[in-house]
Amino acid sequence: MNNSIYNRLLQKEAKLAVIGLGYVGLPIALEFARKIKVVGFDINQERVNLMKRSIDPSNELEASAFDGCDIEFTANINDMKDVEFFIVAVPTPIDDANLPNLKPLLGASATVGKVLKKGDYVVFESTVYPGCTEEDCIPVLEAESGLKFPQDFKVGYSPERINPGDKEHTLQNVIKVTSGCDSESSEEIAKTYELVVEAGVHRAASIKVAEAAKIIENTQRDVNIALINELSIIFNKLGINTFEVLEAAGTKWNFLKFSPGLVGGHCIGVDPYYLAQKAQEVGYHPEIILSGRRLNDDMGKYVAGEVVKLMMKHSLPVLGSNVLMLGVTFKENCPDIRNTRAIDVYSELKSYNVNLDVYDPWADTNEVRAEFGFDLMSRFKHQRAKLMATWNA
Ligand SMILES: NC(=O)c1ccc[n+]([C@@H]2O[C@H](COP(=O)([O-])OP(=O)(O)OC[C@H]3O[C@@H](n4cnc5c(N)ncnc54)[C@H](O)[C@@H]3O)[C@@H](O)[C@H]2O)c1
Repeated sequence: MNNSIYNRLLQKEAKLAVIGLGYVGLPIALEFARKIKVVGFDINQERVNLMKRSIDPSNELEASAFDGCDIEFTANINDMKDVEFFIVAVPTPIDDANLPNLKPLLGASATVGKVLKKGDYVVFESTVYPGCTEEDCIPVLEAESGLKFPQDFKVGYSPERINPGDKEHTLQNVIKVTSGCDSESSEEIAKTYELVVEAGVHRAASIKVAEAAKIIENTQRDVNIALINELSIIFNKLGINTFEVLEAAGTKWNFLKFSPGLVGGHCIGVDPYYLAQKAQEVGYHPEIILSGRRLNDDMGKYVAGEVVKLMMKHSLPVLGSNVLMLGVTFKENCPDIRNTRAIDVYSELKSYNVNLDVYDPWADTNEVRAEFGFDLMSRFKHQRAKLMATWNA
């Protein structure tokens, strides 16, 4: 049997590490840990402690997902000294000016660089603009390790398609794009991922192609939702029900089904800014991508404005009125409040001096208080409010 990294992983002679154990990193780490030896590394010791007790801090996986896994959770870099295959899945957020914030990614690259050895593999999964792996991450790996790319170590990129709260499209049953820095690494990386992705992998032609493929998946979605949001504003003015229009148009075979709404979270509302930044760097100002972003980012304000208009139309006093907002997480059936645009609805309504209560059984009260400075309505208070409403009706 040859001594390829894939075979060494399979024979449990080599270890794989996942750096960053969030929505993306933990499921992939556990899936690999059913087949090969895995180290799960995260800088957040509290999260590591929970995972050691078979608790997913992101609330996506049941305790049974940890059963039968050969995995060591750690926040200690020394535990990765004998690892030969690294997967990086740390966040790639934007800053207040909507510019890419590469701090976690470069931090994780520096961590890997400190334990990188000749012959090792590093695969990035974080969503980035085309060129980021080669232009931003590899130099950090080289600087920290003192090794030279590509002769001393191999690099690849494999974007993630996981969808929090979605039990239908899973890591195992959705084709995964993989790539490497040369034909040998491309094959080794593809075969390694095939161990866990039953649907198989698509071998992209290069790292940049794989990076670009991921970023356009989310950009396409963002722009399409922006179009439907714009249509809903027009139809509102025309007194036409947008959902009835979409239902009718949706009967055509090639009409794309998107719904109007708030575009939040750390993917769809963020990733297009990564692509826009790269486009501007090479001298092109993206018109459609950025106008889609602007439109979607303004929807919360628009929704709140429409609520106030409706109240006035029905002779309801706005100032001092009691308003209940249902939902604060960035989407349905998911506890994640990061970059939720529901907060825009909240802030805009608050600016009209209404008494606003927010109820969301998915969101964590402490997280909401820390992030947005208000307390969620308790389940008890919500039930009482519902009762009172029924009583008054
Ligand atoms: N969540 C999704 O639905 C999704 C889907 C596809 C792609 N992605 C992309 O995957 C990447 C990871 O996203 P996520 O949702 O899993 O993030 P997350 O916030 O859920 O988890 C990130 C984890 O990384 C850890 N971390 C941060 N900096 C670190 C460092 N320097 N070293 C080690 N650990 C570090 C954090 O403590 C956290 O546990 C992002 O680029 C994101 O855009 C996410």
